[in-house]
Amino acid sequence: MSNIISYEESKQGFSWDLAKELMNWKEDEVLHIGAMCSDRVCSAGKGEKTALVWAGFGDRKCSYTFDDLRVYSNGFAKLLGDLGISPGDRVCIFMDKIPSLYFSFLGVLKFGAIAQPLFSAFGDESLEVRLGNAGTTAVLTTQKHAKKIRKIRDRLPALKHVVVVEGAESKLKDGEVLFDVESAPRVESFTAFRAESETPSVLHYTSGTTGQPKGALHVHGSVFGQALTTSWVLDLNDDDVYWCTADPGWVTGTSYGIIGPWVLGTTQCVLDAGFTANRWYQFVQDNRITVWYSAPTAIRSLMRAAGEPTRQFDLSSLRHLASVGEPLNAEAVVWSEKALGLPFHDTFWQTETGAIMIANYPGMKIKPGSMGKPFPGIRATVLDLESHEPVGDSGKVGLIAFSPGWPSMFRRYWNKPDIYRSKFVGAPTDAEPDQLRTNPDLWYVSGDRASIDQDGYYWFVGRDDDVINTGGHLVGPFEIESALIEHEAVAEAAVVGKPDAVNMEVVKAFVMLNSGFEKSDQLELDIMNFIRKKLSPLAMPQEIEFSEKLPKTRSGKILRRYLRALEWGEEVGDLSTLEDD
Ligand code: PRX
Repeated sequence: MSNIISYEESKQGFSWDLAKELMNWKEDEVLHIGAMCSDRVCSAGKGEKTALVWAGFGDRKCSYTFDDLRVYSNGFAKLLGDLGISPGDRVCIFMDKIPSLYFSFLGVLKFGAIAQPLFSAFGDESLEVRLGNAGTTAVLTTQKHAKKIRKIRDRLPALKHVVVVEGAESKLKDGEVLFDVESAPRVESFTAFRAESETPSVLHYTSGTTGQPKGALHVHGSVFGQALTTSWVLDLNDDDVYWCTADPGWVTGTSYGIIGPWVLGTTQCVLDAGFTANRWYQFVQDNRITVWYSAPTAIRSLMRAAGEPTRQFDLSSLRHLASVGEPLNAEAVVWSEKALGLPFHDTFWQTETGAIMIANYPGMKIKPGSMGKPFPGIRATVLDLESHEPVGDSGKVGLIAFSPGWPSMFRRYWNKPDIYRSKFVGAPTDAEPDQLRTNPDLWYVSGDRASIDQDGYYWFVGRDDDVINTGGHLVGPFEIESALIEHEAVAEAAVVGKPDAVNMEVVKAFVMLNSGFEKSDQLELDIMNFIRKKLSPLAMPQEIEFSEKLPKTRSGKILRRYLRALEWGEEVGDLSTLEDD
């Protein structure tokens, strides 16, 4: 029997207090994600239970108990105090998926600082934008990634500390500190910062269409949303062995790769060894994984890998599969039923929502290709594209919107109140963030289009903006265009998503060259590498088209929509209206 007994019954009389009941949490108890993921699990008698099973490239592997998690996160919390960091400061975690990433995430929270995880493949410019916007005080990183910080440190006046968590003392540069938590003296006790429900916890950056990325700020009270969705959607129980393939540089990797499972005391597995189908299946087999949360790009890559996995590997431990990040095509659901004996359950949510909003629940009929239904307790709808009135289950395509007030909702965009306000339909122009996020009469608009069928199932249609979703990661065209024009050969650039069989979309750039530069394969490669290094491999254009002229509106804005339509073979629409954009 699954944790969500029946979807319809769970909607009746729903209250978020059910999360507190699930966790057996009392109002006078500590409300603190760092402590709830470690100390509290130990106090409940599970200190010796395995918390983390980790494997890296080659045959590197290790495992840690909840007591290890408690002690090593204490170690990081104490370090921050010793360095003179203050609660509320932003502390960036910039490393691969090594065990110290997980310890330090909880440690930063225990100290009362705001954890700012950033994807370790980011280049110096992606880092600079995000560390600069957040006014980050400290970065925790590894020898491998420290060099990117060195390049930009002079331009980040707020950045006081760079801590290298593995590597050699002799390789440090001025102003860097080495701290290897596993060889440092054990910190047996640390009193976690007295957080309250509204105390900031995690700052995740996400890309938009215009401007640089925005930092979505979350709070400790989000834990109730993450715990209940983990239980009802991912169906985790005490004896499960769970694998979330997401990197904690992105929200899935923290909400469901750290917080939700660990507050429930679940054993998690982490594989930090890239992707190959065989390595992944082997990992499932070796660890007897029971619940697996992954992404459509990975599932499509598994589909393309030759062979029948269950002939080669013993995958019989698997009992529940879920997916997030991009549209999960019906073929992928049908394939997994055949190849793995279980369907992937699609789930929809965002950095801003902090937790799963729409999902296919265990026990509920899956309509392959649909994202399922809103989580009980979430009021969702689809708004008319023009009037912004709810269209209900008419099947009409509109904007996915949610009524504010769920526990894990983002509380603001860091230093960007106007953009925060613009996400709410009907928001008064002078409304403060706290008035918006608690007003159930407004709609928070997600930026995605969908329709609802007569059975209440949501069907994803596409983004409502120019943001590119490549392999489940959002990249902002503006960020890439800005970086492209920093290349000496580039005069102007426009960036759009282009269809891709595995990644759904990849980045394509249209580039106008400065005089004196000639198009060539070499120049194309050079520009691609320039972006890969500055931003990230995700942002790197897979194709560059050199053009004499880029289509623009009369006011001079580049018409990405027109270029995108050409790439997707869609109706270009009435150009005269596009030009008035
Ligand atoms: O466009 C939607 C897409 O990913 C966006 C959110 O991206 P991010 O904030 O990076 O968080 C990703 C993981 C929670 C959404 O606005 N998206 C997410 N899930 C789905 C999806 N698109 C289609 N189907 C999904 N299940």
